[in-house]
Amino acid sequence: MKCDRFITVEGIEGVGKSTNLAYIKTYFEALNDEVLITREPGGTLLGEEVREILLAHRHDGMADDTELLLMFAARAEHIATVIKPALVSGKTVLCDRFTDATYAYQGGGRGITSERIATLENWVQGTLRPSLTLLLDVSVDIGLQRAGKRNKADRFEKEQHDFFDRVRACYLERARHEPDRFQIIDASQSIASVQDQLTISLDRYMRLSQA
Ligand code: TMP
Repeated sequence: MKCDRFITVEGIEGVGKSTNLAYIKTYFEALNDEVLITREPGGTLLGEEVREILLAHRHDGMADDTELLLMFAARAEHIATVIKPALVSGKTVLCDRFTDATYAYQGGGRGITSERIATLENWVQGTLRPSLTLLLDVSVDIGLQRAGKRNKADRFEKEQHDFFDRVRACYLERARHEPDRFQIIDASQSIASVQDQLTISLDRYMRLSQA
């Protein structure tokens, strides 16, 4: 399936995804695109209920495979009922996390093999892949410090520093392997500087996708 504008935003906790998603939306709206912002896990009624199960502490100790399968169950619903229809109708889809998060958190963080994740990715997504992934990168110290200032920590935010070291390393490794799809943004900088970097990355993406 050809998906010209299926854009995902990734990063560890505290990288500032929400603020930057809003900025990316205005970038595409200025080009007269119709933009849909959505998120994972979530994005549908079923997905938001699964999200609640995944993040809540009443399921502390959930088996790693259960966590993995719930992520993909929510994703299957999201793709079938939201992402694909939006792309088919010509919308630009901006998704707050997607399958790179599964490789990073369930793979890097929990230690599930990438072969196992790839099997589910191929099954659930077919040929659907993001056309651009913006990886907002900060050190784990900065990310956790920023995230800690928000609400009560959820089941992932309760993880230890070394878990997030592995998550971040996995994201960076994936970005190194797929330099055409990924753009790494230094999110430790000021909001203005992060937005400048995003504009440069999005301009490059638009140039390449029109070439
Ligand atoms: P967030 O969307 O508020 O950042 O939080 C969602 C949490 O879910 C975050 O800690 C990352 C985690 N997550 C996974 O572990 N695997 C996934 O595939 C996705 C989409 C999210």
